[in-house]
Amino acid sequence: MTKDLKNPPIDRVDGRMKVTGGAQYFADFELPNMAYCVIVGSEIGRGNIASIDTKKAQGAPGVLGVFTHQNMPPIPGWDAPVGGEADGPAPKPDTIEKYRILSSPKILFDGQPIAMVVANSFERATYAASLVKATYTKQTARTDLEKHLAEGIAPGRPGSSDYLRGKADGYQSAPVTLEANYTIPVEVHNPMELHGILAHWTGTDSLMIYAKTQGVNATQDAMAQAFKIDPKKIHVHTEFMGGGFGMGLRTWPQETAVVAIARKIGRPLKLVMTRDQMFTLVGHRPYTVQTINMGADSNGKLIGIAHAATAETASYEDFTEATVNMTKFMYECPNVSTRYRIVRLDRSVPIWMRGPGEATGAFALESAMDEMAHKLNLDPIEFRLRNYTETDPEHNRPYSSKNLKEAYQRGAEAIGWNKRKNEPASQRDGDWLIGYGMSTGTFNAFRWEASARALLNADGSLTIQSAVTDIGPGTGTALTMIAHNVLGVPLNRIKVAYGDTSLPKAPTQGGSAIVSAVGSAVYDACTKIKKQLVDLAVKDGGQLAGRQADELMMADGMLSIEKEPGKKVALSDLMRTNNLTVIDKSADSKGGPELGKYSMYSFSVHFVQVRVNPLTGVVRVSKAVSVADSGRIISPKTAASQMIGGVAGGIGMALTEEAIIDHRFGRFVNNNLADYHVAVHADVPAIETIMIDKPDPIINPMGAKGMGEIALIGFAGAVANAVFNATGQRVRDLPITPDKLL
Ligand code: MOS
Repeated sequence: MTKDLKNPPIDRVDGRMKVTGGAQYFADFELPNMAYCVIVGSEIGRGNIASIDTKKAQGAPGVLGVFTHQNMPPIPGWDAPVGGEADGPAPKPDTIEKYRILSSPKILFDGQPIAMVVANSFERATYAASLVKATYTKQTARTDLEKHLAEGIAPGRPGSSDYLRGKADGYQSAPVTLEANYTIPVEVHNPMELHGILAHWTGTDSLMIYAKTQGVNATQDAMAQAFKIDPKKIHVHTEFMGGGFGMGLRTWPQETAVVAIARKIGRPLKLVMTRDQMFTLVGHRPYTVQTINMGADSNGKLIGIAHAATAETASYEDFTEATVNMTKFMYECPNVSTRYRIVRLDRSVPIWMRGPGEATGAFALESAMDEMAHKLNLDPIEFRLRNYTETDPEHNRPYSSKNLKEAYQRGAEAIGWNKRKNEPASQRDGDWLIGYGMSTGTFNAFRWEASARALLNADGSLTIQSAVTDIGPGTGTALTMIAHNVLGVPLNRIKVAYGDTSLPKAPTQGGSAIVSAVGSAVYDACTKIKKQLVDLAVKDGGQLAGRQADELMMADGMLSIEKEPGKKVALSDLMRTNNLTVIDKSADSKGGPELGKYSMYSFSVHFVQVRVNPLTGVVRVSKAVSVADSGRIISPKTAASQMIGGVAGGIGMALTEEAIIDHRFGRFVNNNLADYHVAVHADVPAIETIMIDKPDPIINPMGAKGMGEIALIGFAGAVANAVFNATGQRVRDLPITPDKLL
């Protein structure tokens, strides 16, 4: 592990289970006497329920109960903050509306649950739900951010305050200036797996939950708070997840409601939401409007940047994200100011989605960088290099590692950047215009606290345990590789158990933080085992007795001395001779105070070639190269898959993804996978991924920084920049649909 080890590209450890149906997702679990819950949503965007008729539904076959604000069982901890309610303290209760599911006739957003119907089959619950009829007193739903931009409020959270370095209007005096507005529409996570929960009260105050959550411990805590019971009595299981992208980063009110109703009816209760409910009840990327002012001198040195963003949130909860943060530290620039505002609308609350606010902010900043490069008649990479910074100008401290220059260079070579012409609309292939674009991405590299346990058995097999959920990036595979690197146990002798609160506590899978956090705990637990084995070996380990601990190496289930082929002892023999059936070590791992001396970020660069048809306005991404500077790559194959997934998401963000609201009703008109178009195979070219693969010396013992978010952050900007290069048309409002180019 101390060596400069390049890991082999191994298959996903859970791959076979996933493709053979062996993997059980939450909705696959069936319990005896289980009942099914279906949600009825509000048909208005704001107002009150005047009447609700549930009689027909109650009389329908198999119905076990219809729950509305008139008969919803109480949830004792409702007024405690719900798990995952954004970062930082929630607003004071008197400054914001309350949304407590099925607790009042008040309607705060279209699709808000007005009834939850329970029956002995899903089909019967669905039918009975169609019989629930409500009348309303309507009010005007304010759902259009563009009309309410002036109502932006400062969120009052530490991470969201205004930032200033130098002068706020420093850009104004620059010889070359730029002002541009960028918008991001509502985007919806749309993982394949539908959201929901299966709740089973196993006693009066004990609970088994199968959930679709990115954090079993977080769900456990949220339910403990809501029902005022000991978290230890709540068992949450989420081993597999069919995509999360952020919507599982918190516990949603309808999940809590299912738990309450399950208790009331005395049966296990399962909720699987419908696809259209996925648009309103589990968050979305918020509609965001941004303005960038930029000034540079004629040599291409930045003089000032001002970046302002205004995003929507709900009337009942302030959601915030790090939209403008990248602008503070990405480039060397003496005058930088950022401003972030939210507008409370009659909409359901947003949540982090795929590279969250940074993806939104990077689209604006990296589009503006491209626009400025064009004004300066500079190559966009050259412009970035002239403003490159080796230290973090926001905090005046070094980066823990940054290999972005190398990333620019390697990506440029791979895409064939030298074929790009700085003059827009100057390359054609038959009917198609050809263009090249690039963009930088960045995201915090975290080191969160996590625990893990490692058990080495006398037969030479190793078990790793952590509560962490694997939402798809290959967490189990990465943890296997980390354990293998420390202990030399063959990969096929390592099992990882995860996704369950009976296992050592782990943070929520998100923020690209899990390999760093849980991986470090696995590393530490395995290192403790290694130390015990080495101590035993040098004490009386036959061939190795009396040797120095640091002479020994571990590989293939053996302790050995590198240059002395005969000198080795099998781990299993060593354990047997010491009467050990298992070596069982746990570790709680977190970074030390030295981490605070560094700014820790992962970086990416995305390069694309596009083809644009000037007659139809169709844009095709014809080539994509994404370069990750995310420290040591632990699991090259799953890392590459993750980058490819991010690019597919980025193509969707750039070209097609947009949840469209009909503001007369405050309702989505394309709340299904046919009309909300995520990138499919036909939209995605072969994608080349490049890993810089240089260990970060600070963040953790593996040298690994996060990768999930940077796979997407910046990609949409690269496409917009390539479209400009192909056509001379600058599209600042995503997605870049054909109509915007005609
Ligand atoms: Mo991610 S947006 O942290 O699931």
